[in-house]
Amino acid sequence: MNKYLVAYFTGTGSSEVVAKELVKQFDEINIANQLLYIKDEYDYNHNNLIIIYPVHAFNVPEQMEKWLDQYQNSNLKNVVVIAVSGGGEMSPNTISHSRVKKKLKKKGIIVTYEAAIVMPSNAAIIASEQINSLLLKVLPLKIREIIADIVVGKSKMIKVNKFDYLFTHAYVFERMFARYWGKRIKCNDNCNQCGLCIRGCPTENIQLESNKITFNNKCCMCLKCLYYCPQNALYPTRFKFVILKEGYNINDFIEKSKNATVENIVYPKSILWKGVNDYLEDVSKR
Ligand SMILES: Cc1cc2nc3c(=O)[nH]c(=O)nc-3n(C[C@H](O)[C@H](O)[C@H](O)COP(=O)(O)O)c2cc1C
Ligand code: SF4
Ligand code: SF4
Repeated sequence: MNKYLVAYFTGTGSSEVVAKELVKQFDEINIANQLLYIKDEYDYNHNNLIIIYPVHAFNVPEQMEKWLDQYQNSNLKNVVVIAVSGGGEMSPNTISHSRVKKKLKKKGIIVTYEAAIVMPSNAAIIASEQINSLLLKVLPLKIREIIADIVVGKSKMIKVNKFDYLFTHAYVFERMFARYWGKRIKCNDNCNQCGLCIRGCPTENIQLESNKITFNNKCCMCLKCLYYCPQNALYPTRFKFVILKEGYNINDFIEKSKNATVENIVYPKSILWKGVNDYLEDVSKR
């Protein structure tokens, strides 16, 4: 038996797209696998594990950490960590890997391979449409490379700079902030009480009370409810800059990328985009 459990968490769907691409390519080469959204049940009959999550404040979302806490398996060969982010493999994003590694090591599970996938950023700043399209176009290639490495048991570790460790505890503030921020999301009269946000919230933070959508203090700031409300009825009342004015819909990005031209790419100049530029240039060099 050689079977992969591909366990993912996602807020706005990008990490799910990554996980599904991986599973699609596994199926094409007849590698047994189970795709698992971490809130669902999984089959213990696997001997390889792939963990996929969005980077939140340089770190791993709490939901993924909780899942790792309950996960047990003493029969693993490959253990792969794939961090999905808007900024890529740059300081201090790399810190999220060490946190996952540390957690698993305590259970005797050793991570054998680490990778960073860049997807369109869903918070605060977004790259140009051209760059986002290119990110989606190169995804199958990046996944193919990861699979080619792991099937032959290759090991690869992401380098963490000493400086990055200063951000080890950034997640504590991010989680406190998320709870504060999420409690203050409001709903306007456009809401038709369809219940999509309630069903979709990964932390069960939303409810209908006296015919009004209200929020508790369990928000993980995944942004899903705000971007995917069909009535566009939800809005933050604090730190509004977190939400992209253009909105965020990963399926729209995928559709746009199909017809996008990727010639004469204009790479963003700011240092903030270094991880994205390196990720894309790595492909263009070949
Ligand atoms: C609360 C929050 C914090 C984030 N922090 C980071 C970060 O520290 N570094 C980064 O590169 N991207 C960051 N991002 C961007 C996401 O990692 C990125 O858009 C990812 O593709 C989202 O994946 P998802 O659609 O599966 O939720 C953050 C997004 C959110 C919502
Ligand atoms: S998804 Fe939007 S319209 Fe539907 S219940 Fe939630 S806030 Fe209302
Ligand atoms: S309330 Fe909205 S932003 Fe917060 S965890 Fe739920 S879906 Fe995500």
